[in-house]
Amino acid sequence: MKMKIGVIRGDGIGPEIVAQAQKVLDRVCEKYGHSIEYTDILMGGCSIDACGVPLTDEAIEQAKNSDAVLMGSIGGDAATSPWYRLAPELRPEAGLLRIRKALNLYANLRPAYLYRELADACPLAAKDGGRTFDLIIVRELTGGLYFGDRYTKTVDGVETAVDTLKYDENEIRRIAKTAFEIAMKRGKKVCSVDKANVLDTSRLWRKIVTEVAEDYPEVSLSHMYVDNCAMQLVLEPEQFDVIVTENMFGDILSDEASMITGSIGMLSSASLNETSFGLYEPSHGSAPDIAGKNIANPIATILSAAMMLRYTFGLTQEAEAVEKAVQRTIADGFRSVDLMPREEEAAASCTVQKCDEIGARICERL
Ligand code: IPM
Ligand code: MG
Repeated sequence: MKMKIGVIRGDGIGPEIVAQAQKVLDRVCEKYGHSIEYTDILMGGCSIDACGVPLTDEAIEQAKNSDAVLMGSIGGDAATSPWYRLAPELRPEAGLLRIRKALNLYANLRPAYLYRELADACPLAAKDGGRTFDLIIVRELTGGLYFGDRYTKTVDGVETAVDTLKYDENEIRRIAKTAFEIAMKRGKKVCSVDKANVLDTSRLWRKIVTEVAEDYPEVSLSHMYVDNCAMQLVLEPEQFDVIVTENMFGDILSDEASMITGSIGMLSSASLNETSFGLYEPSHGSAPDIAGKNIANPIATILSAAMMLRYTFGLTQEAEAVEKAVQRTIADGFRSVDLMPREEEAAASCTVQKCDEIGARICERL
């Protein structure tokens, strides 16, 4: 197969982690007889520096002409970077929001899976017999507060800011369908997360998700308020299979879900529209404090590349090979700093690896 992949290296640790994911993809191609044509696409702070805006029309066209886009991370330190002295619509994050909207990437899949070998890096108290969980957050990505009308103005002498939260039934229906389809291939359980005790959008959300559920009689549906879900994720993550939720709740809960896996450096993500196109990126940010030091964990990006093989290219065997190679690298005790066990004794049996070394260890196991 010939794959046309757009590559957004972005800012901070982005270029380092993307290089490792490309190394892994190249190894997969070599082994399974595929070929890749990469196109570099500018987005984020690097695009501001080069073109004055975080995403150009040309960059959107380049993304549209690719089968899929692999992305690192964008943005810098808001306190010190000159990018954050620009108007909000010119900052790095605006580029990410714009590409999501321009390509209609409404479904954001964020799996959180606890590797048995990383249970000692998991901050939750160990359960008898060891804790395991395997859940996926399906986050609506092109609606809600992120894309509602907003303004800041002075009303009767008082500075006032307004953000609006809006969802229509079609936006809810399509993301609910995505969640149920995924549940059919997994544990057949969907938990829809909302704030229906307060918000109108949540009451509509609950109604539409309940309607969609009728088409999936094999899937059991439950509803949960978002505050309770935040608590349940740290209390009993085992109870979840598929969580479906709106944009802002999904942003927050997916960071939480990633951290209980031991490190946010493990959480991959796919942003999909109704075609096979996808934007694949780690769920974490650009970590400017460790950029350029070759110590970032590239696994989230490598697992995002595996999601690309699976969802855009339908290469299940290749995706599984990458996931197994990651698992074996961890099982063999190779860890980026963020994955080192907290206990001294356990840490002694692990080897700290730099970002590029982790990439190399994974490639060796492919
Ligand atoms: C994410 C990020 C983005 C978001 C930011 C960078 C705009 O936190 O992908 O989760 O809030 O969606
Ligand atoms: Mg986020």
